Amino acid sequence: MPALNAMIPGIYKHSRCRNNVYPRCDVRRYPVPDESVFWSQPYPDYQPPVYESDVLAGKDWADLDVDDPNFKVRWNQLDGKVSRVSFIGEYEVRDGYPMNLFGRTGLRGRGLLGRWGPNHAADPVVTKWKRDAAGEPVVNETTGRRILQMCAIERHDCGEWAIPGGMVDPGETVSTTLKREFLEEAMASADGVATDQVEQFFTGGREIYKGYVDDPRNTDNAWMETVAVNFHDGDGSVVGRFDLAAGDDAAKVRWMDVDGGVKLYASHASIVRRVADWHDAHW
Ligand code: BGC
Repeated sequence: MPALNAMIPGIYKHSRCRNNVYPRCDVRRYPVPDESVFWSQPYPDYQPPVYESDVLAGKDWADLDVDDPNFKVRWNQLDGKVSRVSFIGEYEVRDGYPMNLFGRTGLRGRGLLGRWGPNHAADPVVTKWKRDAAGEPVVNETTGRRILQMCAIERHDCGEWAIPGGMVDPGETVSTTLKREFLEEAMASADGVATDQVEQFFTGGREIYKGYVDDPRNTDNAWMETVAVNFHDGDGSVVGRFDLAAGDDAAKVRWMDVDGGVKLYASHASIVRRVADWHDAHW
């Protein structure tokens, strides 16, 4: 699992978006060995297939084709309400196509992603302490540290457990996305619980990570970036008190014990590890 602070271009080598079959289709990525990931490393034989999912056609959340005359775009800038700014830095645009700052993925085009270039998500990591029947925090016997629980969802699209995140809508602030996604995906049956207390809870977040995500949907020309924020319910009195109920893009939802063995979607485990470290919790 990569340490998040090492996720810098030219150092970090993505792996979940390399050397596999692209999700939800049977297109195989062109092989990209470790020594050929970065654009600075020559790879004369590189001939990745181009793929774009049919689900993008006519969607208002998806860009037009790069060569569509109606596609007027401002790369590396706020483009109307859509941010085309990468958290990582300025990306190169080659022959009209933005280039993945982390290098080759073995696939050109957008795949399943709606935007060319950066696609922005937001991930609320909602945590509380695991407690016993008497309400006392549970401590791991080996490390002597308290065990953290996080709200996790099982994603419909791939069946993997994940942080209940989602895409930032055009013009939306990240803090709105964070709260909206949590309420939509994890508290679906909690209509009417968005009380002042919950509102208040979602103002008290700590930013954990902002940057690239090694997401299986990434391509040479489109990739995921996220802002992950931890909201910790220290005494379990706010969201810790509600039953979680899956909605929207989630099949299941639960409070999951956090430790070094967690298997989560994309780079989510690295994000959660940072949260555990921050709270000095068991890992
Ligand atoms: C998910 C986020 C995730 C991002 C990058 C989005 O679709 O909702 O939780 O961090 O993709 O993988």
